[in-house]
Amino acid sequence: MGKTVLSLGAGGLLLAGLLAAADTKGDSAKGKEVFEQCGVCHNTDTDEKKIGPSLKGLYKHEKLKNGKKVTDENVKAMINAGGNGMPAYADLLSEAEKADVIAYLKTL
Ligand code: HEC
Repeated sequence: MGKTVLSLGAGGLLLAGLLAAADTKGDSAKGKEVFEQCGVCHNTDTDEKKIGPSLKGLYKHEKLKNGKKVTDENVKAMINAGGNGMPAYADLLSEAEKADVIAYLKTL
């Protein structure tokens, strides 16, 4: 009995470690769920502009609309700060959710 509890505990730690590792890299499947709140303003399957520019193929573009290179840092800065009609997500999303949504954007 005592042994079972111990191994369950170790398994839980391992799982927590794996989850934490996944968070820093971002999980595109989770990011897709996070993106549901972005989809009201951004298309992902056509190039058509909604309220914001289409994010289809974002990471294949040379630059963002603001002229900065398409890097994780610059995309995250955009998500954090918003502007010109885009809400600021700095306090609305956790760091993990931002990493997830960026991982998702890369699949587009
Ligand atoms: C209320 C509408 C709205 C929502 C919701 C919204 N955005 Fe935006 N987004 C915009 C607008 C408008 C722009 C263009 C801003 C500009 O031109 O400076 C933009 C720009 C962007 C850009 C830069 C695109 C480029 O090519 O330069 C990214 C990346 C982006 N949004 C990601 C997101 C993500 C991720 C979410 C969800 C967490 C989100 N947006 C939610 C309206 C929105």
